[in-house]
Amino acid sequence: MKINGKPYRTIWPTADAVEIIDQTRLPHVFATLRLNTMRDAERAIRDMQVRGAPLIGVTAAYGVALAMRDDASDAALADACSVLLAARPTAVNLRWGVEKMRALLAPLPERERIAAAWKEAARIADEDVAINAAIGKHGGEIIRTIHQKKNTAVNILTHCNAGWLATVDWGTALAPIYTAFDAGIPLHVWVDETRPRNQGASLTAWELGQHGVSHTVIVDNAGGHLMQHGRVDMAIVGCDRVTARGDVCNKIGTYLKALAAHDNGVPFYVALPTPTIDWTLQDGVKEIPIEERAQEEVTHIAGLCDDGQVRTVQVTPQGSRAANYGFDVTPARLVTGLITERGVVKADAGAMEVLR
Ligand code: MRU
Repeated sequence: MKINGKPYRTIWPTADAVEIIDQTRLPHVFATLRLNTMRDAERAIRDMQVRGAPLIGVTAAYGVALAMRDDASDAALADACSVLLAARPTAVNLRWGVEKMRALLAPLPERERIAAAWKEAARIADEDVAINAAIGKHGGEIIRTIHQKKNTAVNILTHCNAGWLATVDWGTALAPIYTAFDAGIPLHVWVDETRPRNQGASLTAWELGQHGVSHTVIVDNAGGHLMQHGRVDMAIVGCDRVTARGDVCNKIGTYLKALAAHDNGVPFYVALPTPTIDWTLQDGVKEIPIEERAQEEVTHIAGLCDDGQVRTVQVTPQGSRAANYGFDVTPARLVTGLITERGVVKADAGAMEVLR
């Protein structure tokens, strides 16, 4: 994707380190950040300087490479894997990225590990880009079909940020939107603000704007109203983990959008790279660990002030406690289809077998 006309990925290796776009500073400041050590990579994941399931997985892979550069011993490999795995619990791609690196590196002699680690991390990053481009192609066809039927702009609702910022490039939920937009299909995106971290209002809106896609930011509770009035043709969201029977774990609030979509006959699609499927799990509500984050993300909010400074203010009364569940699970029965790099598949155990 391009920023002010210049092509960027969200993460890239340099001669001796890794660079990322610091997403905590967007949309007001575009800044890149150097990760010099495995601990820097772990902090970037934990503090959400990088976020989004696929990008978390790739950052973790580069984190292992950084660890190997400093110490390629068995102990250092085991330590890096366990530190990175603990950075955020919900996205299965984190485990996928780390385990890929471990499986490749563990059997190698120490002297071969550094080069192999950098090569494998780069390969995982490239694979993510190719996967997302394919998701864009398959999902773009759904948008095209809707457009052919209605003949006016297609209105698409999305939640959180599952765009190119959440991946290495293209995005998952936004890849079909970019593909359709680039093909000249008229469309408009309703962007859920996505409290408490506002990934929709600050990240999705920013990247859609960079690409020139028409969009409107709405408060998280507006989706149901818009659907009741026929102003949403489809919803597409990303996900952090999908179970073998098609239950979908995504940013908190996704479940409520899926319920509203179901009630109003609006197709509700989930876009995902197949590494996001956790084949070890069935019942997402019972089995997926939900990340609980700091209260301050709910009690406080950051924004751009009139003097050009970004400041954080408190929105709750002093002393009120806050709960901050990062994700929820949408049962498979509410999902119209899973848009994967291998095609669009029904969210049920039998249909999903083709993805194994
Ligand atoms: O907490 P975040 O910002 O990492 O949550 C991200 C999401 O919920 C995304 O929609 C999901 O990871 C899919 S990213 C392509």
